[in-house]
Amino acid sequence: EIMEQPKAVRDTVSPRIRNGGVYLNDIRLPAQKLREIRKIYLVACGSAYYVSILAKYTIEKACRIPVEAVMASEFRYSDPVVSSSDLVIAISQSGETADTLAALREAKRLGAHTLAVVNVVGSALAKLADQVIYTWAGPEIAVATTKAFSAQLAVVYLLAAHIAKELGTITDADYKEMVAALEQLPDAIGQVLTPENLQKLRDYAERYCTECNAFYMGRNLDSAICLEGSLKLKEIAYLHSEAYPAGELKHGPISLLEEGTLVVALATA
Ligand code: F6R
Repeated sequence: EIMEQPKAVRDTVSPRIRNGGVYLNDIRLPAQKLREIRKIYLVACGSAYYVSILAKYTIEKACRIPVEAVMASEFRYSDPVVSSSDLVIAISQSGETADTLAALREAKRLGAHTLAVVNVVGSALAKLADQVIYTWAGPEIAVATTKAFSAQLAVVYLLAAHIAKELGTITDADYKEMVAALEQLPDAIGQVLTPENLQKLRDYAERYCTECNAFYMGRNLDSAICLEGSLKLKEIAYLHSEAYPAGELKHGPISLLEEGTLVVALATA
């Protein structure tokens, strides 16, 4: 499923891009409706919640609308300030995660407009939301998400580009660059998943698999991806790991770093 990421992202992105523009024909979010939106909430669990953190940064930057990512398991217990002028987006691979469903139900009860980003067609979440955008990642059999996570990230960028264009918060040049980058993304992922790189990763894994602690650090978008990397290490390799926004590491957790501790730094920006 890791190797299926180029196809998952291509199948999700390419039907929605034409002539250098994003067309989200599956949903109706016209400019007038978008202008009424006071705030966007993203509700999700686990890896999909990490996609939501990245979405907060991406949508706020492009669309200039306040966005809050909330763990779906916390949403209904936090008396959220949600009303009919808010858009609540739920992100889920399965579309069946109980907390995400409960969060979306609560959002609907409060009168919000709801949108689901889901992989499984006809799932409970897809039926519950007012509108649905599917990630076309195909069946995800492995318990740990990989290709659906990447397809969710692609949908976040499609949505950000679409909303920003409708609201006029993005320059033509930036919009074109964003759409072109999305079109190139499947090939770019394929260029990372080469036999040479996979061998390098195997070598690193062999070298570090006896470590008992790992730290992931990165800033902004990278900090969200660090959370995902750290979760993968926990659930697949059963290694303890922590993820921090780079600037936060020095406010306490640095005391756990000692010679030999594995630190993975992401610096893509
Ligand atoms: C981690 C993982 C989980 C899911 C989470 C939400 O690898 O797969 O953290 O992301 O359980 O599941 P969905 O997306 O089906 O709502």
